[in-house]
Amino acid sequence: MSIFYSVRREYDLTHLKESVLTDTPFLLFQRWLDELVAVKAVADPTAMIVSTVDGKGMPYQRTVLMKSYDDNGFVFFTNQQSRKGQHIQQNNQVSLIFPWLAMERQVIVTGIAEPISAEENDRYFYSRPLTSQVAAIASAQSQPVASREVLEKNYQDLLAFYEQNPLKRPAHWGGYCVKPVAIEFWQGGENRLHDRFSYEFEANNEPNWSIKRLQP
Ligand SMILES: Cc1cc2nc3c(=O)[nH]c(=O)nc-3n(C[C@H](O)[C@H](O)[C@H](O)COP(=O)(O)O)c2cc1C
Repeated sequence: MSIFYSVRREYDLTHLKESVLTDTPFLLFQRWLDELVAVKAVADPTAMIVSTVDGKGMPYQRTVLMKSYDDNGFVFFTNQQSRKGQHIQQNNQVSLIFPWLAMERQVIVTGIAEPISAEENDRYFYSRPLTSQVAAIASAQSQPVASREVLEKNYQDLLAFYEQNPLKRPAHWGGYCVKPVAIEFWQGGENRLHDRFSYEFEANNEPNWSIKRLQP
């Protein structure tokens, strides 16, 4: 027997109006992120869900933290030998979702994931505490492990070693920049008449972004 969750509610915080759309989606993204951060109770406001597909086209999604963005795209860091890293190596078309539910919003990105430079990886890796750097070395992310104890012992042994010895960023630990081809902004509306605007990148046009309102 299925259990029915009756959690219907109206979306009535605000509207996304044509008049506030910016020429590039990044400015609107910035405004929305600032507004979300101002809602103090939101944990991990930069969390985003990254969807990739495997070689058979089977999708998989996971949450990561967006660490920076600019007109080139959205950057996150990970183990590039992980499941997501292997997926991206085979097919670098990905989708991101920023689930900004506290503001009755979501932002959906489709784009191309490219590894960022070794210099940028170093800059971020070495800014992290030693414990996080060691964890990056200790974890073959996405691989099975026999037990929590095995994981902990490996970590503690490596930590003891690297407290005395210099540590280098593993070559497989680094960032991807997701360069958007489209970004949709969704704002929940009354009576399920949501506001949706899709920005699509058009390299040969000026301005580069064409905007369409989508039906809810
Ligand atoms: C709030 C949150 C933030 C996370 N941030 C990251 C991150 O920045 N990088 C990362 O590799 N994994 C992060 N993770 C863990 C991933 O969701 C995922 O478990 C891991 O990257 C392995 O994914 P994969 O096996 O699909 O490659 C985060 C998880 C949560 C819930």
